[in-house]
Amino acid sequence: MAGIRGQGPGGILTAEIGLSAPWLEEREEELVLETLRSGRLSLGPMIDRFEVALAQRVGAPYVAAVSSGTAGLHLAVRLAGVGEGDEVVTTPFSFVASANCVLYESATPVFADIDPRTLNLDPGAVEAAITPRTKAILAVDIFGYPAEYSELEAIAERHGLALIEDACEALGSEYQGQPIGSRGAPAVFAFYPNKQMTTGEGGALAVQTEEEWGLLKSLSNQGRSDSGEWLTHSSLGYNYRLDDLSAALGLAQVEKLDRILERRAQVAARYAELLGGMDGVELPLPDDAEHERSWFVYVVRLADGIDRNGVMAKLADKGIASKPYLPSIHLQPYWRERFGTKEGMFPVSEDTSRRSLALPFHTRLESADQERVAEALASSLR
Ligand SMILES: Cc1ncc(COP(=O)(O)O)c(C=O)c1O
Repeated sequence: MAGIRGQGPGGILTAEIGLSAPWLEEREEELVLETLRSGRLSLGPMIDRFEVALAQRVGAPYVAAVSSGTAGLHLAVRLAGVGEGDEVVTTPFSFVASANCVLYESATPVFADIDPRTLNLDPGAVEAAITPRTKAILAVDIFGYPAEYSELEAIAERHGLALIEDACEALGSEYQGQPIGSRGAPAVFAFYPNKQMTTGEGGALAVQTEEEWGLLKSLSNQGRSDSGEWLTHSSLGYNYRLDDLSAALGLAQVEKLDRILERRAQVAARYAELLGGMDGVELPLPDDAEHERSWFVYVVRLADGIDRNGVMAKLADKGIASKPYLPSIHLQPYWRERFGTKEGMFPVSEDTSRRSLALPFHTRLESADQERVAEALASSLR
């Protein structure tokens, strides 16, 4: 991705292969320029166009655009009515924001371990973690693989809980043939540049009712009511607005989302060909009749006993980026210090965190670069 780095086998300089890269073309420039020239940089018509296009794509009646996935998660927690003293059952194997958003409302995240196959919340563990104080379940579609919504919905219903979908990594995924975002529970998407599509920074929530949408628009706009009075604030809100330049970029990306997802699926399929059967490397779980993954990252699991840091160093020597992906949230320094969480509490999540490795993966990744990654990985394991 970024410049030239490292000596190839014959002393030839080789281009660095980065972990991710957005796919931006003329249409993105055109819409951003149109917005720039319109002078409507915030609360303008581009936001509406983006929200409508995204709602159509994810099969939800309403979408509210926000300034980041994290902002979207915070608002989803507010929407669920989670507050001080409440507990929210969630996964430790995720990006830290999916649990931090519970802390923003002075509630307590309660972790439940993951299924070693899907790397998503194990419904049995969720049920076991429920107490009289539980208010919601916050599921994450990790690496774009849909969580077990049938079972989670049934648990939520049985215990009278809200369900929140952190779909920040799963735009375009389908569960039981339905797009993520269309099922009913509020679903949060994120558009940082490493995601399937980007707005620079940005996020969005897919919801079912105009009432939820109105509340989200108000909360993300300083709690303003729809009276039109700029300095009247009817609830405690935030500035979580997405700006129109970002929305313009997002609209161009939504327009070509199908092409993006198709290419990413091809890149993933090529990796499966190149890495399938490589000793010590376990590939991501394939789709099945119920789960269709939208490819966000390509994360392999290394066999026990392989020195992951050593592998990463050897890849880096060859100009190939890689990342331990993801650390378990309960072992993050802030969490250890505040809650006394430690190793041994969520063994499946911890084992996955110890062995998982993200390889370069993005929409425009060339097959030749993937071959370089596969060769480098194979030689780093010898
Ligand atoms: C699972 C998950 N949740 C939440 C987020 C937060 O999104 P953002 O970085 O847009 O705030 C991300 C993105 O990095 C994510 O992967």
